[in-house]
Amino acid sequence: MFLGRNAERRHYYAWIPLRCRPPQNASLGGCPYQKLPLTVNALDQTPVGGRQRAEKCHWLLFIRCKSNDLDLEATLQFLPTPDAKKLEKSPMRRRKLWIVVGLVAAAAALSLLTGLLVWRLHLHRDVAVTRVYVGSMAIANQRFLPDYEDPGSGPFAKMASLVSQQLRVMYNANTVLGKYFRRTSVETFSDDGGDTVTTYYHSEFDIPASQLASVDAAIQSLQTAAGSQQSRQGRVLLKPQHALDIDSVVARAIDPRMTSSSLLVKKSFNVHVQEGGVIQSPGFPDSSYPSDVYLEWRLRADAAYRVRLDFQTLILEDDCQHDFVKIYDSLAPIEQTAIAEHCGIPHRSLSFVSSGSVMLVTLVTNEAKNFPGFIANFSQVPLAPPDCGGPLSGDVGIFSSPFFPSSYPPRTACVWNIQVSKGKLVKVKFRKFYIGNDSNDCSRDYVEVNGRRLCGAKVGSTAVASRSNRMTVKFNSDWSYVDQGFFAAYEAFTPSDSCPGRFRCTNDLCVDSRVRCDSVDDCGDASDEDDCGTCAPNVFRCRNGRCVLWTMVCNGKDDCADGSDEFKCEKSVAMTTCPDSSFRCRNGRCVDKVNPECDGDDDCEDASDEESCQCGSEPYRSSRIVGGEAAQEDELPWQVSLHVAGQGHACGASVLSSRWLLTAAHCVQDKGSVRHSQADQWEAFLGQHELSRANEWTVRRKVMRIVAHRDFDQLTFDNDVALMELESDVPLNQHIWPICLPSPAHRFPDGQEAWITGWGATREGGAAVNILQKAKVHIINSSVCNNAMNNEVKDGMLCAGVLKGGVDACQGDSGGPLSVISPSRRVFLAGVVSWGNGCARRNKPGIYTRVTRYRSWIKEHSGV
Ligand code: ARG
Repeated sequence: MFLGRNAERRHYYAWIPLRCRPPQNASLGGCPYQKLPLTVNALDQTPVGGRQRAEKCHWLLFIRCKSNDLDLEATLQFLPTPDAKKLEKSPMRRRKLWIVVGLVAAAAALSLLTGLLVWRLHLHRDVAVTRVYVGSMAIANQRFLPDYEDPGSGPFAKMASLVSQQLRVMYNANTVLGKYFRRTSVETFSDDGGDTVTTYYHSEFDIPASQLASVDAAIQSLQTAAGSQQSRQGRVLLKPQHALDIDSVVARAIDPRMTSSSLLVKKSFNVHVQEGGVIQSPGFPDSSYPSDVYLEWRLRADAAYRVRLDFQTLILEDDCQHDFVKIYDSLAPIEQTAIAEHCGIPHRSLSFVSSGSVMLVTLVTNEAKNFPGFIANFSQVPLAPPDCGGPLSGDVGIFSSPFFPSSYPPRTACVWNIQVSKGKLVKVKFRKFYIGNDSNDCSRDYVEVNGRRLCGAKVGSTAVASRSNRMTVKFNSDWSYVDQGFFAAYEAFTPSDSCPGRFRCTNDLCVDSRVRCDSVDDCGDASDEDDCGTCAPNVFRCRNGRCVLWTMVCNGKDDCADGSDEFKCEKSVAMTTCPDSSFRCRNGRCVDKVNPECDGDDDCEDASDEESCQCGSEPYRSSRIVGGEAAQEDELPWQVSLHVAGQGHACGASVLSSRWLLTAAHCVQDKGSVRHSQADQWEAFLGQHELSRANEWTVRRKVMRIVAHRDFDQLTFDNDVALMELESDVPLNQHIWPICLPSPAHRFPDGQEAWITGWGATREGGAAVNILQKAKVHIINSSVCNNAMNNEVKDGMLCAGVLKGGVDACQGDSGGPLSVISPSRRVFLAGVVSWGNGCARRNKPGIYTRVTRYRSWIKEHSGV
């Protein structure tokens, strides 16, 4: 028994020969004294020595049996005693202590000598490393008591001691673990319902560096051994009334960032999620989180419920080695149960569901750079997932991974059995597909269709068809790291005409026949690019199908005539990158003049600054959205109205060329069953002035392809940009004319006058209007804007508006242009209408996608 001087809990351990019975009463005092008082009473063992590690206040005791085999060692945990003071002050005990001190000192000297000798002989290269393993152990014959959440309670201490003994026995049954085990601390317990309690613990081992791998392996082997032989051994070795019925053990080495010696504060919070509520990092949102902390929130749901956690905000330093939030499907940070780790500002909304009734959220920070932190809502949801698998009948339908668009829970398996009308086949299209990392064998999380596994992230639709009227789709997630999951629609089709008038991909997806052989994978399985007749071996195939010599690729000249031979020229670009502020000529020269492109002067030796200037040349004739006025006809020939099938005007867009339009990515996102991401849902109206009435020159075109920025973030609206390729070229004339795209170096200074145009609402909450409107705004300084907009304005965004309110873009203007007239009276596209806080409110400017940031993305995906 250990006597502590104050209320602090410390753990003391003894090494004793395995055949000795555990001492009934032993005491260690002194820590933090430097003496070595030691008493072992009423034993048939003799203490032979003790050693204090003053810096950490840990003890090692060496105890020898009277009649025994000394070759075997075992560990024993000395438990805290309640009457520390009394024992410490007793003179009798003190005398005893002194005797023991003597003995211990002698033995210590002896063992030091022996140790030195052994070390000199063979071990001196094998430095011992302390490694902490975190584990959980399910105990079948125990009922959960509320006191198990309070480490200071009697029942906790009692149960913890049984657990520690049980673990010690399990470790000792393993030659490797028994040798290096140092101590266990039981952290907490959870209620698994019925008669099962799970305990979470840390076990510390001192392991020679050369043995680390074998200890790791031995720890993992406990997992398979538990519930079988290992625990039976455990039961045999413990006194019968103390036997714990071990169901399962899971343990792994702790994430080393969590045991760093610089962590000053370690704290746990117990949270019952039943009622719902929020957890947040300290100080959120008024101050940044503290440095050098390890904080954990233990979230517990009622039995038969899961924990659900939805992050409202998460803003951490963007180096996960420094600060991170890590979430576990457990109450202890066991690596195998880690389901997510985040730092920086994540790109998608974060929402997690546990597999059982517990979840652990940890926050680890270091000293450098602290950020606002996080706030997350918790709640509980019934354990039975609402729609995970089952039969699906009917000729069309949808299904998704459990809890989509929240991340799927770990350790989940679902099977859907689809059956459509006789004589038809089944086609499943995955509209969203984010299933972990793409690995060769998809062995962790995967979807299995027709026996083929799919995993990773798939952009665009991925489709799979069956050979009969039935199809089985399986979904499986393993223990760790989850993802957003999938959303799929299925339909029955008749085998012969599955793609009337369109190209049928090998995966049975239908795409426009004209996208075949255009060097873009439209099918998702690249079958639209198969058998396209390639260019000769030493010849490069351009996006437009033309063949040019490889020597012409990345030579700074547009030999393909669609720019595709100059897209991915990392080396040459790196060699000739210009500073942010200067224009890069085709020949790689940098021009320092502000906005030299299309200004009428040849600033590049190769005149490339004056190429591609068939744009933006129809400046507004006069000035007159919210606070705007009707535009003149032909005044805005780049303005496009985008219609969704059956709904009319939905968004604006700008003409970039006879083939391509630029709009906002948020316009082309699927919402529930509304499939805005599908090209066939859209039609573009060019040369339009009144929405209700087409001009004779109005051109109406179907959209052949949509390329939305793959990093568009639904939450932050980061990268809110998308391209639309028209089904066929439109004639360019004074009614339909491209706007100029600014080069990446183009400057739009704060305060500059700019124009917003569109058919959007003329007041907040209003409806789209009939006649195209325009309004004058000004470019607003980004820091001023960020102050006004809660720091939600990212680098790829641009603010414009009128701070006193009254003039702004509004619903329905999205995707349309924010344009600026250059001194040479050309119109440049500075921004794409993206978002705002209401419309035209005081001190709430409009936020636009900053086009200069996406200039090369546009070039890469459209050739424009
Ligand atoms: N998101 C809106 C749309 O879909 C445009 C919002 C622009 N709002 C603003 N206050 N500038 O049409």
